[in-house]
Amino acid sequence: MREQLAKMKAEALEALGRVQTPSDLDTLRVQYLGKKGELTAVLKQMGKLSAEERPAMGQLANEVRAVLEEALDRTGRRLEQAALEARLKAEAVDVTIPGAVHDIGHKHPMYIALDEIKDIFVGMGFTVLDGPEIELATYNFDKLNAEEGHPSRDWSDTFYFDTESRVMLRSQTSPMQVRAMETMPLPIRIIAPGRVYRKDEVDATHSPMFHQVEGMVIDKGVTMADLKGTLNTVIEKLYGEGTVTRFRPHHFPFTEPSCEMDIQCHKCGGKGCPTCKGEGWIEVLGAGMIHPNVLRMSGIDPEVYSGWAFGMGLERLAMGRFKIADLRLIFENDVRFLEQF
Ligand code: DAH
Repeated sequence: MREQLAKMKAEALEALGRVQTPSDLDTLRVQYLGKKGELTAVLKQMGKLSAEERPAMGQLANEVRAVLEEALDRTGRRLEQAALEARLKAEAVDVTIPGAVHDIGHKHPMYIALDEIKDIFVGMGFTVLDGPEIELATYNFDKLNAEEGHPSRDWSDTFYFDTESRVMLRSQTSPMQVRAMETMPLPIRIIAPGRVYRKDEVDATHSPMFHQVEGMVIDKGVTMADLKGTLNTVIEKLYGEGTVTRFRPHHFPFTEPSCEMDIQCHKCGGKGCPTCKGEGWIEVLGAGMIHPNVLRMSGIDPEVYSGWAFGMGLERLAMGRFKIADLRLIFENDVRFLEQF
């Protein structure tokens, strides 16, 4: 029995030395110290011993149990320590590795152009206004002298919200002229940039949503010469000194006289090329002297005050400013395009 205990102890210690996992350790604990384990099996034979032999053998068995328990605990601690070390190694962060650089976005080219436009006008004493995109037809048409039946009011051109054609997505920023006249003290110098909506199919120069910048000046003694001088100054600041412009007669219900302004094509210098569709000129805005009816409807006496206004397409201006060939690029937000500005 003495040899049995000694052999068991040696085997157990040897097995513990090889243990790699907590579950193997548990298996060994049960195998040697469990109720049906090897030590218990040896102790069961104590009955066969003589009364003199029994105490010494009992003591020896207890010693073996103590040695094994201690060895099991020690092995348990060794496994825990090894597991902790493995985890620390696996989760270690090398703070000296250079970090990944995140791309920071930047302003959209159209808003770069808009900010330039705003800066130029603010420098000339204009205030920048913001207004509703959901607009009353009264402001979008009636008070701008576009009477019932005017072609621009047609359902095929305009996004109305109701069957009576009273509420709509604004088709131009011109209603901001009326809103300014109704709320601001005279004299008035404003620009009003924003989105406008028309039932257009998308192509290289059209989109059902686009942006305009409205501008308006009302004061005593304001003339068409002020309009031309101001717009020429703005265009030279945007497109560079010496940019050639021309004013063509046109018709708008809310201005009299009315005109459109073209700039000489920056690509071909007026000879005609694909960018200007062979014209040599690119139309950039509509403008004119504010119609006396419009002033009167907003409570301003046209005998005392006069004014001019303009509305320009922001996309078209940005396209000219950055030499962009297709309007769709402005809205698609493909980073390969945007990163170029
Ligand atoms: N609202 C016009 C349009 O969308 C552009 C325009 C023309 C605005 C003449 C004006 C103006 O303020 O005076 O076509």
